[in-house]
Amino acid sequence: MATATINGIEIAYTDQGSGTPIVFIHGFPLSRAMWQNQVAGLSGQARVITIDLRGHGESQAPLWFATVDIYADEVAGLLDHLGIDKAVIAGFSMGGYVAFAFWRRHQARVRALILADTRPQADSAEARQGRFNTAQNAHANGAAAVATAMLPRLLTQPSLDGNPSLVAAAKGIMESAPVTGIATDLMSMAERPDSVGLLPSINVPTLVIVGEADALTPPADSQLMAEKVPGARLVTIPGAAHLSPMEQPAAFNQAVADFLSTLS
Ligand code: MLT
Repeated sequence: MATATINGIEIAYTDQGSGTPIVFIHGFPLSRAMWQNQVAGLSGQARVITIDLRGHGESQAPLWFATVDIYADEVAGLLDHLGIDKAVIAGFSMGGYVAFAFWRRHQARVRALILADTRPQADSAEARQGRFNTAQNAHANGAAAVATAMLPRLLTQPSLDGNPSLVAAAKGIMESAPVTGIATDLMSMAERPDSVGLLPSINVPTLVIVGEADALTPPADSQLMAEKVPGARLVTIPGAAHLSPMEQPAAFNQAVADFLSTLS
């Protein structure tokens, strides 16, 4: 683990391998620990960077507001710190919302985009209310209560029933999330702008990946992104729900490796 001070916050990251830089941005309420299999499986082929956004994993967790723009600027700050001009930006779920913000604010630094189990639409009024309820739940009952509520939506039933080490890993990451980080994620997601209109402007190679049983950011949303981003390719991962990079790492990594090999 290494750290960099970015916008006054200590940010934890890992940087492994060489070649095309690819930055993996985690989802809610997770951390860079979700990308362990991607670091192991892809760092032979690429320079794999993972970041703990503020309030996650081993980064500092200040009690303050956050937006997807602030998160995106943190990713850009990490690229500065590492002396990297352009990188493949790979965002999972909330990390995808950050990837859209990165595209808006730092387009010239995007070599290619990977949008995994995410969606381009902003929150509905009902979804915003849900964010508020989740924040109250975290505040009153701690991260474990959020983990318990989230877990059944992240993995397929066969994994929930038959893969205790995967369940423990996902739960462990969520249970250790600082409540300040949970709250800032919810705030940043509730306030994020719609990115549907942005999709036709994305003129870098784009890979969309989705678990076939993803109920949180359903395959229809990935279909929409793949249709609207010119030339995008869509890969659907069998036997995965929302958390496809952890649930089916081999298939996920294969999709990323195939995509990376198309980039010159
Ligand atoms: C995530 O996995 O990052 C979140 O569940 C996405 C969301 O709640 O919109």
